[in-house]
Amino acid sequence: MDPDKKTIFSGIQPSGSITLGNYLGALKNFGKLQDKYNCYYCVVDMHTLTVRQDPQALRERSYQLLALYLACGLDPDKNVLFMQSHVSGHAELSWILGCYTYIGELSRMTQFKDKSQRHADNVNGGLFTYPVLMAADILLYKTHLVPIGVDQKQHLELARNIAERFNNIYGETFVVPEPFIPQNSAKIMSLQEPEKKMSKSDTNTNNFILLTDPEDVIIKKFKKAVTDSGCEIVYDEENKPGISNLINIYASINDISRDDVMKEFEGSRYGDFKIAVGTSVASALAPIQKKYFEYIEDKGYLNSIFNKNAEIARENANKTLKEVYEKVGFIVNR
Ligand code: TYM
Repeated sequence: MDPDKKTIFSGIQPSGSITLGNYLGALKNFGKLQDKYNCYYCVVDMHTLTVRQDPQALRERSYQLLALYLACGLDPDKNVLFMQSHVSGHAELSWILGCYTYIGELSRMTQFKDKSQRHADNVNGGLFTYPVLMAADILLYKTHLVPIGVDQKQHLELARNIAERFNNIYGETFVVPEPFIPQNSAKIMSLQEPEKKMSKSDTNTNNFILLTDPEDVIIKKFKKAVTDSGCEIVYDEENKPGISNLINIYASINDISRDDVMKEFEGSRYGDFKIAVGTSVASALAPIQKKYFEYIEDKGYLNSIFNKNAEIARENANKTLKEVYEKVGFIVNR
């Protein structure tokens, strides 16, 4: 870790296959930041237990997520790519921070409200305290910047409040982290229901693009994407959510602005635009997929990365935990 560089932390849950939303909202940015910052990119397996998981599938998806991190260009020598459950400090700090978080704050979290409706038969304590564990993930490494999609912004604000509260009581301890949210891809929407977020837990597979979808499937899903009855390719989230979503996807996959997209497709038909978006996405994902299928075959290599990085993360996490334990009044023995 370079002491002159600021720190980044972000995580993705291995709770389903990774979508184009995860990629454009978060993962694509991870790689761009790896030279300028000390970066921790975590496979947040502990968070997934808030919803029932099949143990074997969870393990497999955790490897798949690491393989995707690598395939997306994250250099394992420059970034700490690791598993949340390998570093017990996440759970330990989470307990402490939970004692500085109010039930009222947690009850206001929109993701908690959504998920407790969707999983009404399993509204467990973990679902409620989920944002505290997320705050622990971030604060444990004295993180300055957190690349996320906009759906995680409320959780990050809570982490900031917890950090400030703790600092006010015990003196400067945690860095108060800032969100890093991409402009055009802060919230990639479902292809069939563009008023809701593209999500890996969706049951309709036409709603999302997986990073591992083959080219023909990608193009087919974009051809079927729901648009409106108009014919102009202009950005208007309220009246043209489907077309606006496609404009965002095309802009972010090609690193251009929405205006550039609208200029390029002025006078084009919806059908042609959809094919262009699909082709662009498929060709951006092709090299990632090629690498992904190589990495996923090599569990030995993936385990070696997990092992090496767990140690690095543990060492840095322990420094913060020790400081926190001292401040709250524990007899430190770690
Ligand atoms: P998760 O696993 O749901 O999603 C991972 C990242 O992808 C972003 N994202 C999206 N961005 C744009 N459009 C979408 N449709 C879309 N869907 C998902 C998310 O905003 C996220 O950045 N709680 C987090 C994981 C987490 C975490 C952390 C993140 C745990 N600890 C600490 C940052 C820092 C989550 O469930 O993300």
